[in-house]
Amino acid sequence: MPPLEDNPALPAPNRTQPLFSPGTSKDQALVIFVLGGPGAGKGTQCANVVRDYGFKHLSAGDLLREEQDRPGSEFGELIRSYIKEGQIVPMEVTIQLLENAMNAEISKTQNRKFLIDGFPRKMDQALKFEEAVVPSKFTLFLDCDDQTMHERLIDRGKTSGRADDNEESIKKRFRTFVEQSRPVVEHFEKEDRVVKVDATTSKEEVYKRVQEHFEKEGLCFYYGDAK
Ligand code: C5P
Ligand code: MG
Repeated sequence: MPPLEDNPALPAPNRTQPLFSPGTSKDQALVIFVLGGPGAGKGTQCANVVRDYGFKHLSAGDLLREEQDRPGSEFGELIRSYIKEGQIVPMEVTIQLLENAMNAEISKTQNRKFLIDGFPRKMDQALKFEEAVVPSKFTLFLDCDDQTMHERLIDRGKTSGRADDNEESIKKRFRTFVEQSRPVVEHFEKEDRVVKVDATTSKEEVYKRVQEHFEKEGLCFYYGDAK
């Protein structure tokens, strides 16, 4: 992925039209947002959808961690401190990383189908991304109770090596989710653009429900033009 500062495309206060229109043809991109609290199983379910439906998985958190560790990144320190505190990194950085990753995938494989995981986490990101990059097709919301998510994160923390899978950061991430990310889900719900799945059961059970929705939305139809 090109470094942020080398990308000429601005994340668009200046852009008057989205970069792509929704779809899988030339000049288009198909985006599904995947949201859920920390530990809801976003990454796990995205891996299944990638395997079965040929989407490219873009995790906003992974892209931020990658940029944080990129030697010479001017955003490394900023990203590190936001992640540690469970805060949302300023949207310009995240939107630019996503846009770069989408362009890189399209040039490399011609695949135009994206699952954007852990984004948008805040209203400003939601509005700006849809205005400047592409309107999403829908948001898959993995609905899970705090206790289950907490247990999963503590368990994952034993091996993930992540700086934020510890009690203190988890608490902050939960608070950020309730205060900033839930309103995004509610916003899309009002527009009837949310597919909500109960994510408290086993990975297999959850995926069955996810799959039902993907089939219902006609997304298996797109399988043929995957990579
Ligand atoms: O999704 P994930 O749990 O990997 O995100 C880890 C952290 O990355 C979040 O707690 C937040 O600090 C940052 N992040 C962000 N904006 C996003 C996604 C993640 O600031 N859209
Ligand atoms: Mg994740």
